[in-house]
Amino acid sequence: MTRKSPDQLRSARWFMPDDFRSFGHRSRMNQMGYAAEDYVGRPVIAIINTWSDFNQCHAHFKQRVEDVKRGVLQAGGFPVELPAISLSESKVKPTTMLYRNFLAMETEELLRSHPVDGAVLMGGCDKTTPGLVLGAISAELPAVFVPAGPMLRGNWHGRVLGSGSDAFKYWDERRAGAISDKDWSEMEVGIARSYGVCMTMGTAATMTALAEALGLTLPGASSIPAADSNHIRMCAAAGRRAVGMVWEDLVPARILTEAAFRNAIVVAMAMGCSTNAVIHLVAMARRAGHALGLDDFDAASRRVPVIANIRPSGDRYLMEDFYYAGGLPALMSRLAPFLDLSQLTASGRSWAECLEGAAVYDDDVIRPLDRPIYAEGALAVLRGNLAPNGCVMKPSAAAPHLLRHAGPALVFDDYPMLKGMIDRDDLDVTPDTVLVLRNAGPLGGPGMPEWGMIPIPRKLVRQGVRDMVRISDARMSGTSYGACILHVSPESYVGGPLALVRTGDVIAVDVPARTIRLDVPEAELAHRRAALPPPEPRYERGYGWMFSRHIGQADQGCDFDFLRTDFGAPVREPAI
Ligand code: FES
Ligand code: MG
Repeated sequence: MTRKSPDQLRSARWFMPDDFRSFGHRSRMNQMGYAAEDYVGRPVIAIINTWSDFNQCHAHFKQRVEDVKRGVLQAGGFPVELPAISLSESKVKPTTMLYRNFLAMETEELLRSHPVDGAVLMGGCDKTTPGLVLGAISAELPAVFVPAGPMLRGNWHGRVLGSGSDAFKYWDERRAGAISDKDWSEMEVGIARSYGVCMTMGTAATMTALAEALGLTLPGASSIPAADSNHIRMCAAAGRRAVGMVWEDLVPARILTEAAFRNAIVVAMAMGCSTNAVIHLVAMARRAGHALGLDDFDAASRRVPVIANIRPSGDRYLMEDFYYAGGLPALMSRLAPFLDLSQLTASGRSWAECLEGAAVYDDDVIRPLDRPIYAEGALAVLRGNLAPNGCVMKPSAAAPHLLRHAGPALVFDDYPMLKGMIDRDDLDVTPDTVLVLRNAGPLGGPGMPEWGMIPIPRKLVRQGVRDMVRISDARMSGTSYGACILHVSPESYVGGPLALVRTGDVIAVDVPARTIRLDVPEAELAHRRAALPPPEPRYERGYGWMFSRHIGQADQGCDFDFLRTDFGAPVREPAI
């Protein structure tokens, strides 16, 4: 393996020359108490830390960053912490998705503009993983991802509670009058007991596992619970490894091959992944130069069964159980027939080497391939006149009787209208109604909020109804469940067919056939299309204005057009 020499380090351009500029760079390092021996000729490792006082899932990053630094120093590197926007999923409004590309841009530019040779990316809470990875791909520096790890299981009255999924479930019970105010407030202090990300198979657990499957973490890293001391050791090991990756010039392009992305799609299907995985993986693959799209997910879904028995696709277990059952390496060892194990990981070893000795310790948590929890994969991509560019659903988390369904639409023009009407006792709705929410896509939302798990109308909840067909151009939380059809593309705000639906129109969904149809004659649809008013601008200044002009549709991964790798000539290294 060829190894860089110290004068070949990128940071050497700032620190090594005997010239006026380098005098300034070194004297200002001296100002902070560092001697030249500390950093000149050593790999300078940027630690992009998405900690903040508002990010509950990254609360431990303030300590963990010290462990990463310890590892970098042990391996002879020089650690530099660079904070980035932290994107707390539960608090940032209207949605963190508005800011995923902001974090991607920030990561790319932090790495490009500073005298750094490689990076440790610290993230995990939903959009932080794709944001950091997108930026690192474009920055083209060696980078290892440190996943925040799942939080401990929730607990209430001796029952296990899962992030998101149980909040939704018991909220419906409360709306139905089945649990008391006291129960509800006890749940509030029991459902999130430690730092770390949501411990169901939500977007965070999905995306950190996919970062691992892509080869961007140390093998096994993503399943370690945040509060487990193995997590601390993993952080130090990642710091050490980042230094080695710089000497070996192990840049993202060497890890992120098309086969690596195909492996990630297989893993996503077998885990019962969050629907958000589609958007983020498409965006990441395209940045890495591979034209993956929705059909690649659907094709994998037909081959790969869901074998991770984690809620919400699974019926019982959470990420902590998954770790004790062997974690992602155990799952990947079961998936070997579907994977290309020659792919390289951040460890410098192939997946085949990394999986040696991997074993499943609980066959109910990680099922054998012939005893899956769902015989097909986690996602289905539907197309038809209502979604010409596709839409996504999670059949494994839906009531089976709704997978083939036709019913009259009840249309909500936007989220405030939905919120104002859904609990009314006079709502004209039956269990067969198809609930439609529009103006909730990338531009219309704006930012494509997680509104796609439209609540079951209260009058039906009281009758015991717990699932209905719901269609929107929104996303939904990965912890959500139900027959929710999402990401309808093109979105209604830009005149997609969802904008043409009227209450009472019949919509037919056939998941096994992968179709979604609005039963209205084409002539009538053309007539309605011609009468559509132009949409109101969502922003007239600021970041949102830029977002509105450059955001792509869901099936394209919602990247900004100007961030795409093929947008123009590559960005040059900065002049010094
Ligand atoms: Fe951070 Fe769910 S709120 S991962
Ligand atoms: Mg989420």
